[in-house]
Amino acid sequence: MPLTLTRPDLIRSANFIAGQWSATPAARLAVTDPATGATITEVPDSGALEARAALDAAHAAFPAWRKVPAKQRAAIIKRWNDLVLAHQDDLGKLISREQGKPLAEGKGEVAYAASYIEWFGEEATRMNGEIIPAPLPGRRMFALREPVGVVAAITPWNFPAAMIARKIAPALAAGCTVVCKPAEDTPLTSLALVLLAQEAGVPAGVLNIVTASREKTPEVVDVWLDDARVRKITFTGSTPVGKHLARRSADTLKKLSLELGGNAPFIVFDDADVDAAVDGLMAAKFRNGGQTCVCPNRVFVQRGVFDTFAQKLAARVAALKVGPASDPASQIGPMINDRAVEKIERHVQDAVAKGAKVLAGGKRLPELGATYYAPTVLSGADARMACACEETFGPVAPLTMFDSEDEALQAANDTPFGLAAYFYSQDVRRIWRVADALESGIVGINEGAISAEAAPFGGVKESGYGREGSTHGLDDYLHTKYICQGQLD
Ligand code: SIN
Repeated sequence: MPLTLTRPDLIRSANFIAGQWSATPAARLAVTDPATGATITEVPDSGALEARAALDAAHAAFPAWRKVPAKQRAAIIKRWNDLVLAHQDDLGKLISREQGKPLAEGKGEVAYAASYIEWFGEEATRMNGEIIPAPLPGRRMFALREPVGVVAAITPWNFPAAMIARKIAPALAAGCTVVCKPAEDTPLTSLALVLLAQEAGVPAGVLNIVTASREKTPEVVDVWLDDARVRKITFTGSTPVGKHLARRSADTLKKLSLELGGNAPFIVFDDADVDAAVDGLMAAKFRNGGQTCVCPNRVFVQRGVFDTFAQKLAARVAALKVGPASDPASQIGPMINDRAVEKIERHVQDAVAKGAKVLAGGKRLPELGATYYAPTVLSGADARMACACEETFGPVAPLTMFDSEDEALQAANDTPFGLAAYFYSQDVRRIWRVADALESGIVGINEGAISAEAAPFGGVKESGYGREGSTHGLDDYLHTKYICQGQLD
């Protein structure tokens, strides 16, 4: 089916460097529909040359952009937000087509992305510093907040609009300039957002974007890692890549925000409202077909409610409609690529071989296409299984029965990751005990939808560091300058 947009020019096939759309290099990267493998369009398969040109532009633009009054920067960001919302339908279609999420979710993601742009636009005018009472006579002491400089943003494919928005909006609000490399699977949404940023009045050189294939990405990113002019890296993606970026940034001591892998536990206690817990799991687990860093990867259910919960959940999951993103009835679309489906299949087969039972799904859906996998519920999952140790990143909910709170907490924290954790209970003492004990950056209590622009999103342990969203998400693009003036008496 052709991709018909009200504004067909939102589909860009070029890099954006120093305020110009540039089709170089000649090497091209095909952007495909994950449902069919059909090419949507081609974008540049960039290398070191383009990465350096983007960085030169961002570096040259920084001195002027940081001096633009905060109110003016805020107005530009606000216009960007308005344009994103005005093109919600087109952008939603673009997201669905290149990423595979159902159209309603694609449009929802545009609103989610815009919420970050709006929030950071408003926050641009509130980057107040401090006046510090001086401990010695004749002095005045201040702490000012300054932009860190050029930021390199490396973004993932699972939320092609929202992740760009929550990295670039705070950078622009802070007065930083940006070089960006969007995910190789989903560059089109990012390019469309950059076009709208240009139309909103972001000056030339302030925001630059280069596209590259998986193979060429290290060439692009290495230029930014090695160059001391890049003062911050913000990355969402896998823990191994995050560790690599941290090691490679050490020589120039760049500031880092790393939003890495998760292995979220979802605990249902005997005293939970079981129906609310099923609703929460459906929302958290099956959003974007389970392709989110915060989605529950391990579900622990206490013995007293296990059977009821499992049966209700399996019925809801079996009723999910799987189909192409373009079908308005679809609730789960294709997975992003063949590798993703292979991993899901491997996890389910491994769990079944080790004794898990399939309560729903558990298979590919070849009648729909090679990248479809049925939403799945497993029972009898345990810590030996791959699905308990690795992030499945797909629509699989493995259930494990437990008896005591201590046992659930021990199992929940038994992972090197610590991004999100969820639990359902109606006992107020337990609620605070468990929330305190969970080793994760985000905790959802009786709530499956925890993300919001005003909240700090990020992990502990090997899920990374730094926060996105909220004032903490702006702080990550600023440093503190202490100024001491003497001889005042
Ligand atoms: C992610 O999966 O990386 C982001 C999810 C969210 O923002 O809720």
